[in-house]
Amino acid sequence: MQDIRASVAPQFEQVNHLIIEQLHSDVPMVENIGHYIVDAGGKRLRPLLVLLTGAALGGCTAEQVKFAAVIEFIHTATLLHDDVVDISSLRRGRPTANAEFGNAPSVLVGDFLYTRAFQLMVQLDNMDLLRHMADTTNTIAEGEVLQLTRAGDANTTEDQYLDVIERKTAILFAAGCFGAATLAGESPDTCEAMRVFGLNLGIAFQMIDDVLDYEGDPATMGKNVGDDLTEGKPTLPLIHTLQHGTADEQAMVRRAITEKRADQIEAIVAATARCGALKYTRERARRYHDQALAALGVLAAGTSRDAMAEIADLAIHRDR
Ligand code: IPE
Ligand code: IPE
Ligand code: MG
Ligand code: MG
Repeated sequence: MQDIRASVAPQFEQVNHLIIEQLHSDVPMVENIGHYIVDAGGKRLRPLLVLLTGAALGGCTAEQVKFAAVIEFIHTATLLHDDVVDISSLRRGRPTANAEFGNAPSVLVGDFLYTRAFQLMVQLDNMDLLRHMADTTNTIAEGEVLQLTRAGDANTTEDQYLDVIERKTAILFAAGCFGAATLAGESPDTCEAMRVFGLNLGIAFQMIDDVLDYEGDPATMGKNVGDDLTEGKPTLPLIHTLQHGTADEQAMVRRAITEKRADQIEAIVAATARCGALKYTRERARRYHDQALAALGVLAAGTSRDAMAEIADLAIHRDR
């Protein structure tokens, strides 16, 4: 990671500083919970991509640093809300904020982070980008609601799954890269290429997240495995098993999704591996990764572009 960050190391420090600074509030609980999740770190891939896009397009500016913090704030807000909805108990190697403080404080501090992100957006004084971010966050909210309505539905198709992950995850990666290009004053074609890069990377990233939910190591990931099954989420590993598993495997997975039960997690992990569903999901992620790399062609060759390609590689080869 240090190598990947090298070309934007000072700006990355500035983003981290800005994130801490912008957690300020005279309501102690806001700061307590804000620091609780932020201080636990996280990979900070989205702000890093914002900075690298800026660096690749002529040099990272103070505006892009601020925009990178905006993106991480929005991401963090969605995590606070997501862990309540998913009833998750581990995040970034710690008990989730909902486990530690309760659901109500997590939702409300999530709202604080969302709105703080828009206070920062307003400071950027760019109406087009503000509109884009308003649309982006609206779409993320739709994605999470759509996912909720699909939970427990074992007939969910691969296209419906893609629709959910594009909205809930990929669109924020896309907005980060698009926004950095917009702030650099780039042409519509370049901005669009950066959006396409982020979107495809984000789809691949979520597909791997969904694989890791079955075969990851909680100690490495800092979050639990099996959460998706407990919520009856029909993610790609399960969708594929429902099509290619044995009759018994299909029945088992169908029951787990419909009844939102994780008690057969070990047998289900074995089934997803046996019928090639985890491999299939990784292959699908690889295809989106390749499309992301193709979109990078608009950038001049150099260390920042290389670093962006390395983040795309990391998205599909990661274990955390
Ligand atoms: C987690 O994102 C949520 C998903 C979209 C899968 P990250 O894996 O980037 O979370 P942190 O910020 O590193 O904790
Ligand atoms: C994350 O989806 C999507 C958003 C945070 C919007 P997941 O529910 O798969 O993410 P994790 O696994 O809890 O990080
Ligand atoms: Mg979750
Ligand atoms: Mg997940």
